[in-house]
Amino acid sequence: MALFKKKQNQEITISDIQLPEHIGIIMDGNGRWAKKRGLPRSAGHTAGAQTFRKIARYCSDIGIKHLTVYAFSTENWRRPGDEVDALMRLFKDYLQEAIRDFKDDSIVLRFLGDRTAFSPELLSLMNENEEESCNRDGMILNIAMNYGGRAELVTAMQQMAQEVASGSLNPEDIDEQMISDHLYTKGQPDPDLIIRPSGENRTSNFLLWQSAYAEYVIMDVLWPDFTPNDLDSALIEYAKRNRRFGGV
Ligand code: IPE
Ligand code: IPE
Ligand code: MG
Repeated sequence: MALFKKKQNQEITISDIQLPEHIGIIMDGNGRWAKKRGLPRSAGHTAGAQTFRKIARYCSDIGIKHLTVYAFSTENWRRPGDEVDALMRLFKDYLQEAIRDFKDDSIVLRFLGDRTAFSPELLSLMNENEEESCNRDGMILNIAMNYGGRAELVTAMQQMAQEVASGSLNPEDIDEQMISDHLYTKGQPDPDLIIRPSGENRTSNFLLWQSAYAEYVIMDVLWPDFTPNDLDSALIEYAKRNRRFGGV
């Protein structure tokens, strides 16, 4: 509502609008960014990692409570070995830096996805970061790594089937809340806004269950070029949407 209070010639800023509680970002377009510059795809990922650092900090600064970034999908293993290796090196660099430098920071780090596929070194960095940050009181930053919405649902169904088999769960008690509670995002609200830079109009297996009523904002900018201004534009677009959740 506050959005429409401003006179036509006054610019709307994010201080005028209601912010989403949970933002998801599909960090896409690194490869195209590199190609445009005649660089290897890995250079696009390095640039994209810098954008991620900047945008995560910005979301925390403006008071977003939950940010989920899609960093590596269950399907991204299909990429050439050298590209996957470059991405794993970037994850390691970021997680080492996060443990070392963010001690006084308020951001809580969590990882969504099947982490058994990662090297022991990366796995222990993920665990250490989660343990180090779990008592902080700031934004929850979920990094989706080896994440797929379908794989997440398969895992949830296997867990519930095991609980039924062991007698601790009655099949009639399975409801939407229980399914949500078996996902990697357990305890967190569903995303209100999902931003996809790079112009692709698809979910690519991101937060399938959780995004049932998320507002999608698709943007033409490639992820390495994405700025806090672009985030503001997405937030202002989100604030204009009329969310009905099936009602009128
Ligand atoms: C996103 O950028 C990063 C990952 C999927 C890991 P892409 O690498 O998909 O970039 P494009 O889509 O090829 O431009
Ligand atoms: C989605 O992007 C995954 C991440 C951004 C991590 P992709 O580039 O893998 O998706 P598609 O292949 O265009 O659907
Ligand atoms: Mg892509």
